[in-house]
Amino acid sequence: MVSEDAQAHSSAAARKEDHIRLAADQRRETPGRNEFDDLEFLHHALDGIDVAAVNLATRVGEWSWPVPIYINGMTGGADTAMRVNRSLAIAAQVTGLPMASGSVGIALDDPSTAASFRVIREENPEGFVMANVGAGRPADHGQRAVDLLEANALQLHLNVVQETVMPEGSREFSSWLRGVEATVAATEVPVIVKEVGFGLSRRTLTQLREVGVQIADVSGSGGTNFARIESARGGDAFGYLGSFGQSAVACLLDAPADFPNLLASGGIRHPLDVLKALALGARAVGIAGPFLLPALEGTAESLTAEIQRWVEQLRQLHAMVGAATPAELATTDLLVRGGAREFATLRGIDIAGIARRSEVRGLPDRSAGGPLNQEER
Ligand code: FNR
Repeated sequence: MVSEDAQAHSSAAARKEDHIRLAADQRRETPGRNEFDDLEFLHHALDGIDVAAVNLATRVGEWSWPVPIYINGMTGGADTAMRVNRSLAIAAQVTGLPMASGSVGIALDDPSTAASFRVIREENPEGFVMANVGAGRPADHGQRAVDLLEANALQLHLNVVQETVMPEGSREFSSWLRGVEATVAATEVPVIVKEVGFGLSRRTLTQLREVGVQIADVSGSGGTNFARIESARGGDAFGYLGSFGQSAVACLLDAPADFPNLLASGGIRHPLDVLKALALGARAVGIAGPFLLPALEGTAESLTAEIQRWVEQLRQLHAMVGAATPAELATTDLLVRGGAREFATLRGIDIAGIARRSEVRGLPDRSAGGPLNQEER
């Protein structure tokens, strides 16, 4: 007879396989518009700088990351997850991108699945690795997950909407804030609190700050949609929650100005979306869904080439808008339109100021830049 525990563990592994399959299906749909389309850079045709002058390094807490992009938490715990994590880890090792695991909870409950997480460290011994657990877990689970991956940081995910839609999900959320506080206290590495695609509001970020969280990934809507994924698994009982939550654009506009380290993810489709999130104040930008299909269907080499293409284009886009570093994007002029504008108006956010930020930096110095070449003279 199969014990209840064993059944729960094998169904957890089946759930991880479902997540990969259904998230990959979402990626195969034509990429739709999302609130990143409501954000536009005001184009200044003489602000461009040399690509060679761009330095993509960014500071997140005490760390310096070589590029402002990271592979966000996705998977672990099943056969396909092992394959996906190996590809992602090899690509992270070659490109220098920080990488998060999917929720390690399954491996803490069932150590036979640990290898599908350990592969992330084995393939990338020197890289920046983040372990991941849910906020509903006991406080010591964070450190146990960190130990398993020898991780540099812990991602702690808040997923109340996903749990609600999951037939087997939790129905008890009242202790989560205390749980976050206890996990921060019990974990030896910095804790990054993240959503899973429904956004972190100003109120939530303020609460997190109060319990000692210094780094948060707003992970908003408009990309991988766990209401739709879990709804598909559970017979569509909560199909109407498909548009619940806030986009990363809305979250970044709404975030308290003094939150120490904001990260953004959710709905990033291409390097221009990365640039926009950085320009709205994110220190770095997480990507999950867009790297899932190449990790699932391609080789580690083709995934690496895809990530290198993102990084190179991001460098070119910085030069195009005249930002030598991600931090310099803070003085680009951004037009907030459409649904994002309506959100900002309803929340009392000054978007006129964001459209005129370049005024503080004045006009570029004409003597700067390289010598003109022969033809230009
Ligand atoms: C996720 N995500 C996620 N997040 C988390 O904190 N723990 C997890 O275990 C998972 N699992 C997971 C599986 C799969 C297959 C995907 C695609 C995503 C959520 C992820 O980190 C991110 O917050 C959202 O996917 C939004 O980003 P994208 O996909 O729009 O770039």
